[in-house]
Amino acid sequence: MNKPKIYVSCKTIGDAVDRLKERFNVTYRDNPHPAAISEIQSVVRDVDALICVLDDKIDSEFLSSCSKLKVVANVAVGYDNIDVDEATRRGILVLNTPGVLTNATADLAFALLLAASRRIAESDRLVRSGKWSGWSADFMLGRELSNKTLGIVGMGRIGEAVARRAAAFGMSIVYTRRGDEEKDSRLKDVYGAIRVSLGELLSRSDFISIHCPLSEATRHLIGKSEFARMKPECILINTSRGAVLDQAALIDALKTGRIAGAGLDVYEGEPGVPQELCKMDNVVLCPHIGSATIETRAAMSDLAVDGVLSAFAGVLPRNAVNDEIWAKSVLSGAQVTERGKV
Ligand code: GLV
Repeated sequence: MNKPKIYVSCKTIGDAVDRLKERFNVTYRDNPHPAAISEIQSVVRDVDALICVLDDKIDSEFLSSCSKLKVVANVAVGYDNIDVDEATRRGILVLNTPGVLTNATADLAFALLLAASRRIAESDRLVRSGKWSGWSADFMLGRELSNKTLGIVGMGRIGEAVARRAAAFGMSIVYTRRGDEEKDSRLKDVYGAIRVSLGELLSRSDFISIHCPLSEATRHLIGKSEFARMKPECILINTSRGAVLDQAALIDALKTGRIAGAGLDVYEGEPGVPQELCKMDNVVLCPHIGSATIETRAAMSDLAVDGVLSAFAGVLPRNAVNDEIWAKSVLSGAQVTERGKV
């Protein structure tokens, strides 16, 4: 009996791919570096499911060349690399990996917050250079987190995990989020966090951490006029997607002292990082490692695989992004035993 075909575009961590083998005819590109999209496209033409990563650009042209595709599972919580509207039009279920990377990403945001405020990377470079000339009273002075205000842009799962850490450090929290007010009273009770407008958050915060997904609505959400509203001592952290910030405006704000520093894990045009940022001592730079822990990367691979197995067993996976198409999907409510047949 023909099994459905699946292509896994990038190395997964743990034994997730092995679990696919019983149910699928698996083509596994066991390589930790993302492939050129043309390489993926040439293999994916006749597959039923694709497990991909955030560097794989699954746009409308790509989707139009894969007529048998039923499920795309992104091993990432963000899915701005996938044209979800087009997938929805084509009845393709899109999955992501929410929840399992919340703590890892919040840890990294907090690590950047501490590193930027206490000048850790700069200090490390100095000690290694052999140029440290001894303790002095006004040397490497940083800023403390306690009794300061943290502004969280996007109070979803990761934003809330950052709030939990910030409350433990004695910070006041203001935040923006989409959606109704239902969650706000709990956030106030638990973390003392207060929902405000973006403008108020920008002008009140000593530290700002970005946790909203990238979409057309959030592209360049923070640009020149937003930097103009920030305090000069503000330190900005971004672990979401580079394009939520206008990178040129960020560089300008840092150069002119409009803000005091930044901690960045994501960039516009990754893996390129502007030389200007690399030269700034008040900026801490990481190479998009928000979810890069052994535990989390294995859990992400498992969640993607479990979602695909569930969909092909006729059960809507809990990590579906466009679950509205499920009722119309050939996979819904029935076991797929043969390729193309339910
Ligand atoms: C990482 O950036 C992710 O979206 O999972």
